[in-house]
Amino acid sequence: MSAPSAIDLDRIRAETPHCEQLIHFNNAGSALSPSTVTEMQISHLNLEQEIGGYEAADRAQAKQARFYSAFAELLNCQPSEIAFLENATRAWHAAFHALELKAGDHIITADMEYASNYLDLLHSAKHRGLALTTIASDQDGVVDLDALRAAIRPNTRLVCLTHVPSQRGDIQPAEEVGAIAREHGLWYLLDACQSAGQVVLDVERIGCDFLCGTGRKYLRGPRGTGFLYARNSRLQELVPAVVDLHSVQWISAGSYSLRPDATRFENWERNVAAMIGLAAAVDYALKIGSEAIERRVRYLGRLLHDSLADCHNIIVHERSQNLSGIVTFNRRDMDADDTKRLLNTAGINTSVSRGMNAQLDLGKKGLDVNRASVHYYNTEAEIERFIAVLNS
Ligand SMILES: Cc1ncc(COP(=O)(O)O)c(C=O)c1O
Repeated sequence: MSAPSAIDLDRIRAETPHCEQLIHFNNAGSALSPSTVTEMQISHLNLEQEIGGYEAADRAQAKQARFYSAFAELLNCQPSEIAFLENATRAWHAAFHALELKAGDHIITADMEYASNYLDLLHSAKHRGLALTTIASDQDGVVDLDALRAAIRPNTRLVCLTHVPSQRGDIQPAEEVGAIAREHGLWYLLDACQSAGQVVLDVERIGCDFLCGTGRKYLRGPRGTGFLYARNSRLQELVPAVVDLHSVQWISAGSYSLRPDATRFENWERNVAAMIGLAAAVDYALKIGSEAIERRVRYLGRLLHDSLADCHNIIVHERSQNLSGIVTFNRRDMDADDTKRLLNTAGINTSVSRGMNAQLDLGKKGLDVNRASVHYYNTEAEIERFIAVLNS
C-alpha cells in the first residue's frame, strides 16, 4: 500500500502543536486543532477582554460571515443554507423538530443511528405518536438499501441516517439513500458528525435536505461548536420548534417574521471566538482539499485496520470495503477499558464505544469496543507504535 502524496505532512505536523509528544488516535472524539484555529480564538478572546464582547463581535463581523461561506464551499451549498449551533445534536434537533410531523407519520432510520438522535426519535414516537422503523444493517455493518425500500409506506415522511457511525467505522451509502428518499419524496436528514472533515461532502450529490455536524472532530475545530445545512428550496416549509430574538424579527406587538435563511435555527447568544475558530478550521481543511484529506485518512484507516487484523490477539469489527479513519476492535484477553489504559500509559489516545450507548448495535452483543481513529496528520510510524504497544 503506497501513501497518497499531495499533502504536505511536515508542514501540517509543524502546524499541529504537541502532535510529536503524543499519538492522538482519538480524532473521532475530538481532534488536535491546527495552531491557527487556537490562535484565532485566543486573539478574539483577548479582543473581548480589551474592548468588550459586543464591540469585539462587531469588529469581527467579516470573520463571522466567513463561517457561512467557508461551510458553503465545504458542502457545495449556499451560505444562506448554513446555521451555527453549539453542537451536532442541537443541529439535528433543530432540523428534526422543524418538520411538521403529525401523529401516525412514519420515520425510517438505521440501527447505527447516533444514540442521541435515536433517543430523540424514540422520545418523539412515544410522546407524539410517530411511527418508527429501524432498518437492520447487513452483515458488513452497512445499511441495507433493499430493507430501506421495503420499509417505505404511504405515510413515511422522513429518513434519518448517520453517515459514519460513532461506534463503527464503515462509511454508509449516503448518496444511494438520498436517491431513494428523493424517489419517494421523503425528507432526508443526514448526520455527518463523523464524516465532516474526513470525507468529501457534497449535499447536491448526497441529495439530503439537512446535514448536521460538529466542529471538534474531523474538522479539527473547537469544542462546543456545530453546524446545520438546510436546503433553501425547502426552508419555507420548516418551522423552528423554538424561536428567539435572533431567529425571528419582532415586527409589532403581535407579529414577527422568521429569518429567511437557515439562521432561523440559530440562537442569539453564541461563543463568537469558537465560531471564528471553526471557520478557521474549515478554511484550513479547504486549503488542503477535501479529496486529498479523504485519500489520506482512508489510506491510514485501511493501514490501521489491516495492521490490527494481522494481530492474532485482536478482533477487528469493521468488515465492509468502505472504511473511514475509524477502526473498532477488542483485545481478546483484555477488557476495553484496560486496553485503553494500556495505550494511554504509552502516550496513545484512543476511546471506548460503549454497548449501552449503541443498544441496537453493540448493545445486542453486550460489547464495549475500543475505537482508534486516525486523521491525515497521523503517520504510518504512529500506527506501527500503536500496534507494538497493543501487542505488549
Ligand atoms: C455520529 C455522531 N453523531 C452525533 C454526535 C454528537 O455530536 P455532538 O456531541 O457535537 O452533539 C456524535 C458524537 O460523538 C457522533 O459520533
